[in-house]
Amino acid sequence: MKKIAVLVSGGGSNLQSIIDSVESGYLNIQIAVVLSNKEDSYGLTRAKNHGIPTQVVSHGDFNSREEFENRLIQVLDGYDVELVVLAGFMRVLTPLFVNHYHHRIINIHPAILPAFPGTHGQKQALDYGVRFSGCTTHFVDEGTDTGPIIIQAIVPVLSDDTEESLGLRILREEHRIFPESLKLWSEGRILIEGRKVKILQKISTEA
Ligand code: GRF
Repeated sequence: MKKIAVLVSGGGSNLQSIIDSVESGYLNIQIAVVLSNKEDSYGLTRAKNHGIPTQVVSHGDFNSREEFENRLIQVLDGYDVELVVLAGFMRVLTPLFVNHYHHRIINIHPAILPAFPGTHGQKQALDYGVRFSGCTTHFVDEGTDTGPIIIQAIVPVLSDDTEESLGLRILREEHRIFPESLKLWSEGRILIEGRKVKILQKISTEA
C-alpha cells in the first residue's frame, strides 16, 4: 500500500476528509505520518484520534528555510512516503524541498487557479467581484500555486457572501476533490505532461 505524509498547519478539516476516505475504504493508501510546523495545530489531534503517527517540526527552531526543509525531508524520508500532501500547510516551500519530491507533492488551493494564488484566495475572490470561485488540487512546482492542475471544483459567489461563508462553501468542495485526487494518484491514473495532467481511464479488473 502506498504511503503518504500529510502536512498541516491549522484545523485540518482536509486532513479529516482524507482520514475518513481511508477509513471508509474509498482510498487505498496509508497515512504514514501527519506533520505540522505548529504544535497546537488541531490537525495533530485529529491524527492522534485515529492512531496516526504525528511529528512537529517548528519553523521557528531553524535559522533558514533551507535548514527547516532539510529537517522536514529527514523526518518524512524516515517514513518512506511516496507522496507529500499539503493540507493547509502554511509555509512557502523552496526549490530544495520541491525538487527533492519532484512531482510528488500535491496541494489544495481555495481558488480556481491561476486566479488568486497565494494566501487568502477566498478574500481575493470576494474583493475582485468574481461570480464563481472554487478550489484546485495541483502538483507543487517551484512557483506559488503554479503547478500542474489535477481537479478543480466551482462554487457560486453570492452577493451577501463573507470570506467565511464563501470559505465554507469552497471547503465542502475541497473535502470532495482532495480525496478524489489522491485516489487518482494511488491508482496510478495521473500522467504529468509538461504542465498538464492527463487522467488515465480506470482499467476494469472485472471479466
Ligand atoms: C483550506 O482552505 C485549504 O484550501 C488551504 O488552507 C485551508 C486548510 O483548511 N490551503 P483545513 O486546515 O484543512 O481545515
